[in-house]
Amino acid sequence: MALPDWSTIRALPAARLTELFAADANRVAALSADVAGIHFDWSKTHLTPEAVAAFSAIAETMGLAAKRDALFAGAAVNVTEGRAAEHTAERGEGSPESVTRARGFHLRMRALIDAIEAEAFGPVRHILHIGIGGSALGPDVLVDALGRDIDRYDVAIVSNVDGVALEDALDRFDPNATLIAIASKTFTTTETMLNAESALAWMAEAGVADPYGRVVALTAAPEKAIEWGVDETRVLPFAESVGGRYSLWSSIGFPAALALGWDAFEEMLEGAAEMDRHFRLTPLAQNAPVLAAFADLYYTQARGCETRATFAYDQRLRLLPSYLQQLEMESNGKRVTAEGVAVDWPTAPITWGGVGTDAQHAVFQLLHQGTRLVPVEFLGVIEAGDALAEDHHRQLLLNMFAQGAALMAGRANADEARAYPGDRPSSTLLLDALDPRTLGAVLAFYEQRTFVNAVLLGINPFDQFGVELGKEMAKAADQGGDFDASTTDLIQRAFG
Ligand code: F6P
Repeated sequence: MALPDWSTIRALPAARLTELFAADANRVAALSADVAGIHFDWSKTHLTPEAVAAFSAIAETMGLAAKRDALFAGAAVNVTEGRAAEHTAERGEGSPESVTRARGFHLRMRALIDAIEAEAFGPVRHILHIGIGGSALGPDVLVDALGRDIDRYDVAIVSNVDGVALEDALDRFDPNATLIAIASKTFTTTETMLNAESALAWMAEAGVADPYGRVVALTAAPEKAIEWGVDETRVLPFAESVGGRYSLWSSIGFPAALALGWDAFEEMLEGAAEMDRHFRLTPLAQNAPVLAAFADLYYTQARGCETRATFAYDQRLRLLPSYLQQLEMESNGKRVTAEGVAVDWPTAPITWGGVGTDAQHAVFQLLHQGTRLVPVEFLGVIEAGDALAEDHHRQLLLNMFAQGAALMAGRANADEARAYPGDRPSSTLLLDALDPRTLGAVLAFYEQRTFVNAVLLGINPFDQFGVELGKEMAKAADQGGDFDASTTDLIQRAFG
């Protein structure tokens, strides 16, 4: 069992960022990449050619190339659950059998979308997508980012079991013009099933003759959906080997495919496939997901950083930080290697973020002057999404660029309260435009970066046993199970 040796990384000389720039006129070119309409810049991180070489050696020890091939070949890379992780097959990059199967499922989704558009199930104006975690966060990012101008459908994505969330959506929907999409890989998730039952009851109470006739199921457990009452013709399956947080490319992306249109959905898949090919075929030192992971690991392993923050300087990407939280923390928030041995190195950092410029006026104080070092990732789009672009978009992007420069340069002041230490790292993703293709590439980039992190950390990014205990205890609480004194007291206070 190979284990990563971080000693070479920890021994790297700790030059300041400004010194690194002064020493190498070629630094920006050496530490940037252009892939699928995205410009990546890691020059304001502490990566150096020596660091990249040291990380490449660890990547070799940890078998990155072979593991990457195994991922795309559909081998059982999810070793703890003995199955493949075939999200890339959804975008045409995988074993021929898995790609063919995914295409078949996509064709089925497309046919159902055509039928919905032809009003085969009656008029549809509102799409109520019910799902949680990976069955909500991905579609939510897509619809929110790309759906500003859609007028054909009003989409609500409801995840929280808090009835307020469902009520807020139902209040604005007409039950006679609503289609319910129940998104659940397992079709057993408590929150989703309860929300689905309540939504059906709402339809029935409003006099909709056949509420079940207005339900679509998006799931890897079609038999469970059918048993629950969804007609087989409206069940859109996807493969068991597509993980929940990697599933937006499958039928889980249904609300995006319906609301944004099939062409947009396919473009998104193509953009992701382009990133996959880049990841698969490009040498490590120019490979975007790999370099990003090297920078991540430098800060967690050599600098003791406990968090990493992404700031989207684009209102349309305001949901991206939440999506990334699940992707990174559910995938790589692990404490044992893929073989079950406790690690003695930090795994995933706490992943957080926000939207620029709002975050500047709320949390950037800590980034500039706090005692903790936080690697920051900026993400902006050159082409504006608004008609006010000349003034607003210019200000938006200039702010993003200025923050990266300020974090790095700092500024001395005799009064320490007013001094900025600088040397604070950031990386930047600059998109040409926010279209389906580029967004697909961005999301695939994040998936592959998470994978590279996992391989070098020696962990399995594709299971999530950590969420099970709490689920079981919530069920036990519902059935009056025994708990500690504090929990028992809280339950009694709430329910008597
Ligand atoms: O509880 C975690 C989790 O299993 C996630 O991994 C998943 O995305 C989410 O719950 C929803 O699961 P499902 O799609 O099966 O309802």
